[in-house]
This record gives sequence, structure tokens and C-alpha cells, in this order.
Amino acid sequence: MTKKRPPFLVRYVFRLVSKLVVFLSLGFCFFALLRLHSQSRQQFSVAHALRSRNLDGHFVGTSKIAFLFLARRDLPLDFIWETFFQDADAANYSIYVHSEPGFVFDESTTRSPFFYGRQLRKSVKVMWGESSMIDAERLLLGAGLEDPANKRFILLSDSCVPLYNFSYIYNYVMSSPRSFVDSFHDTKEDRYNPKMSPVIPKDKWRKGSQWITLVRQDARVVVDDDMIFPVFKRFCKRRPPMDTRKGKQNLKLQKQHNCIPDEHYVQTLLSMSELEGEIERRTLTYTFWNQSTRSMEGQAWHPVTFTYANAGPQQINKIKEINHVYHETDYRTEWCHTNSTFAPCFLFARKFSQDAAMHLLTQGVVGSFDASAILPL
Ligand SMILES: *[C@@H]1O[C@H](CO)[C@@H](O)[C@H](O)[C@H]1NC(C)=O
Ligand SMILES: *[C@@H]1O[C@H](CO)[C@@H](O)[C@H](O)[C@H]1NC(C)=O
Ligand SMILES: *[C@@H]1O[C@H](CO)[C@@H](O)[C@H](O)[C@H]1NC(C)=O
Ligand SMILES: *[C@@H]1O[C@H](CO)[C@@H](O)[C@H](O)[C@H]1NC(C)=O
Repeated sequence: MTKKRPPFLVRYVFRLVSKLVVFLSLGFCFFALLRLHSQSRQQFSVAHALRSRNLDGHFVGTSKIAFLFLARRDLPLDFIWETFFQDADAANYSIYVHSEPGFVFDESTTRSPFFYGRQLRKSVKVMWGESSMIDAERLLLGAGLEDPANKRFILLSDSCVPLYNFSYIYNYVMSSPRSFVDSFHDTKEDRYNPKMSPVIPKDKWRKGSQWITLVRQDARVVVDDDMIFPVFKRFCKRRPPMDTRKGKQNLKLQKQHNCIPDEHYVQTLLSMSELEGEIERRTLTYTFWNQSTRSMEGQAWHPVTFTYANAGPQQINKIKEINHVYHETDYRTEWCHTNSTFAPCFLFARKFSQDAAMHLLTQGVVGSFDASAILPL
């Protein structure tokens, strides 16, 4: 059989099609390049917008640490903080408490005069695990920023205790030019909601402990943010617990993304702001997670509360000796340091019962033990 040349028309169409293919692929490449460029420019401008409102002037004088307490109502461990602040120079710190709206700290609600009148004038009703928690954190940071002497901002819960005396903590935190924010990739859980895109791209999504220590610049970024927080409010919500009365609606509710805003917000915001390279990616607050309850995610992932029995010198020293932390999802070991000098990882611990805090106090690590500070109200 002789091979016949294809008719002219077929060859013509073939040539035309191949030209078209080449042309289209070139066009596609160009378009892709353009898109990449505009994406990186867009990301750059987001980071720029988040960071650029830093209007803090230069401040001369003694630098303060702002201790920011996030309380449900009162501060049950006020007696240990009383001893802690007694050894401090009043010019070196300030105290702010966010509590239930209307709750006032005075002689009738606290044993420690250090907390008198320290509640914020403006406060919100906090629902644990919801974005109102972030509202409260932002109010605390905002109040702290009003005093230009405040250079570091430490967020603490009403069950937190210090593991060292004031001067040790002051020098540790002040010597570091960086914030301490636990932050890692969140690959295991499905908390990222695709609806957050494009404002929050998935690769910027982070997880980490809520208990942060910020330098002034980063505190300002959190307070000024009006881009990321609205997205959190809309799309990062806790999944309601199973309620059999709701019948079929449960199916829909249980499919919802289960998101805990305070475990993601600051770390995601800092990663969006391209500030991740400038922080120590760990928390200063020790929490003991019960592995066996943690696996039941969504049910009982609460940390273990220290009692009198497990807050003895041996247990406390074990916490103080920890010098590195391991981030499983990043395969990253974080050797703890402050201002490039190796240091113990943890300055604070939670959650402590009153008995446990009392046990810690009698060990004298926080300051000289003074029995009169712990007399009942
Ligand atoms: C504070 O604690 C540090 C370290 O634990 C210790 O070396 C120092 O003497 C203590 N300072 C005061 C004033 O008690
Ligand atoms: C208070 O701050 C000053 C100046 O930064 C510092 O020299 C001093 O050691 C601090 N006092 C305490 C108790 O940490
Ligand atoms: C940080 O470390 C450097 C180098 O060791 C030292 O010169 C500097 O004084 C330290 N900064 C503070 C604030 O302690
Ligand atoms: C951890 O949780 C399990 C189950 O709730 C409990 O049996 C165990 O005692 C807990 N461990 C600690 C150290 O609290």
C-alpha cells in the first residue's frame, strides 16, 4: 500500500492548530507569570498594610512589662502574684485585668492591693473558645499600649503562676528583642475553613498556644488588625456539642469546621504579616496535657490542673529544667533561648489550683514567703 500525502486542507488545518497550541501555551505562561507576580505583590501589600501603622514614638525611661490577666471573674491565685510583685520596682511593671463586665477589683474581691482598680473600664462577656476571647485579648493589649513605658506584654490566665521571681522574669523577657509566640503548621486537624481564602491563604494558617508574650510592635499589629479578625469572627467557630434534641440538624452541625479562634489568631496574623521570622516560636507558659484525654479531641482536650500533691519541688524543678520543645507537625526542635543565650523554656505554668499555688509559694521560688499575704479574706 502506498502512503498517500494528506490532502492540502488537512495539512493546513494541522499547521493552524499547532500554531494555535503554541500561541495558547505562550499566552498561558504569560498569564500564569502575571498572576504569580500579582499574588506575591498582593501578599506583600497585605503584610505591609498589617504592619505599617506603627506610630509609636521613641520613649526614654524605665521599660515596663505589662502583665495582662484574662480572668473569668476574680483572681483566685492573687496571693502568689502579691508575693511576686512585692519584690518588684513599681516603675518596672504595670497590671491590667480583663474580667466580666462590671466586676471591680477592690478590698472585697482580692487579697492583693496590687490588683485594686486594675480591671479594664471596657470589657466584654467572654465565651470560652469563641472569638470574644480575642476581643478581650485585644482590649488588654490596647489598654497596655496606652502607656508608652510598656515594652513587653504578657498574657496570663487566672490559673497561671510565675515559676521565678520578678527580677529573673523581667531580665529574661526584656533582654529578648523578640515576641514569644508558639506557632506551628496545623496539618493534623481540619480547622482551616477554605472560605477564609483568599484573605487568609491556607499556607499562612498557624496553630499555637494562646499564652503569648509580645513586644510593642507586635502588640500594635494585633490591636490595629481590621483585616484578619473579621474573617476569624465569621469563619472560625467552635463546633457545638452533639445535641440529640436537634435530630437531623446535628448532621449538618457536626460537619462544620471546628475552630478554636484563640489557638490560631495571633500566630496566623503574625505569619500573614511576615513577622514569623522575627519571633521566638514558643510559649513561656507551661501546660501539662493529658495525652489520654487529648486523643479524644473535641471532648476533653483540657489541660491537667496541678494540685497540692503534684506541685512539689521535684515536679516544679522538672518543668524549670526543660530546655527545648518539639513541634511534631513541623519536625522542628526549638532550643529555648532569650537574646541568643540558652535559657529555660518556661517562666509561667498553668493550670494551678489554690492548693498547688500555695505549695509553690512555700518553696520560695517566687519570692520570700510571707504568711500574712495568704490569710483568708
Ligand atoms: C531571683 O531568682 C534568681 C534565679 O532563680 C536568683 O538567682 C536571684 O537571686 C533571685 N533574686 C532575688 C532578688 O531574690
Ligand atoms: C527595673 O528596671 C531597671 C531598669 O531597666 C533595672 O535596672 C532593674 O533591675 C529593674 N528592677 C527589677 C526588680 O527587676
Ligand atoms: C543581648 O546579647 C548581646 C550579645 O551577647 C549583648 O551584647 C546585649 O547586651 C544583650 N541585650 C540585652 C538587652 O540584654
Ligand atoms: C489523664 O486522663 C485519664 C482519663 O481521663 C485519667 O485516668 C488520668 O488519671 C489522667 N492523668 C493525669 C496525670 O491527670
